[in-house]
Amino acid sequence: MAIDRRFLLCGFAYAIVGMGLGVYMGASKDHALFIAHAHILLVGFVVSFIYALIHKLWIVGSSPRLGGIQFYLHQLATLVLTGGLVLLFSGAMPEATLGPVLGMASVSVLLAALLMLWMILRMPRERAAMHPGASG
Ligand code: HEM
Ligand code: HEM
Repeated sequence: MAIDRRFLLCGFAYAIVGMGLGVYMGASKDHALFIAHAHILLVGFVVSFIYALIHKLWIVGSSPRLGGIQFYLHQLATLVLTGGLVLLFSGAMPEATLGPVLGMASVSVLLAALLMLWMILRMPRERAAMHPGASG
């Protein structure tokens, strides 16, 4: 499956889980998980959606290997980050245990963003190599 579509579908999976949690919070009036809800939707849905758009619009034909690494890094880090936030704010696991895991996941989300920036910056050079003589 094309990478933009993979990001799109993963993003919508987070949208459904995050909105489901939002509906639960609204109905139960228990907002303990609102930070997990916010990050499931923002890091999981919104950022994945933005990455899908970047693939579709700005970096078409970029290195599939780098793209694959960036995809798995963002998805894995998001899963660990959001899962960790649910465990933390539901009180299922203590902060002392989750802290290092959340820290590593956070840095990995950031690394995935830096890798995406790198792919965007590299793109004009890759395109020039593929289409000699074309500008932009
Ligand atoms: C079915 C749709 C949704 C429902 C029912 C819902 C419900 C809620 C509820 C009950 C809260 C807790 C409010 C509080 O205690 O302060 C909340 C917070 C939040 N939601 Fe949603 N939400 C929905 C969709 C979304 C979407 C699509 C996004 C972003 C893309 C989003 C982002 C946030 C953020 C950032 C907060 C934290 C706000 C703060 O800092 O107080 N929500 N939501
Ligand atoms: C590396 C990934 C991220 C980490 C480690 C992180 C961490 C945090 C922390 C520690 C808070 C404060 C929570 C509190 O009030 O106790 C926070 C709040 C918030 N973050 Fe993030 N964040 C990340 C990514 C993002 C992204 C990508 C977005 C938006 C696209 C975002 C949107 C927000 C918003 C709207 C709030 C305030 C709402 C709330 O308290 O839930 N975050 N974040």
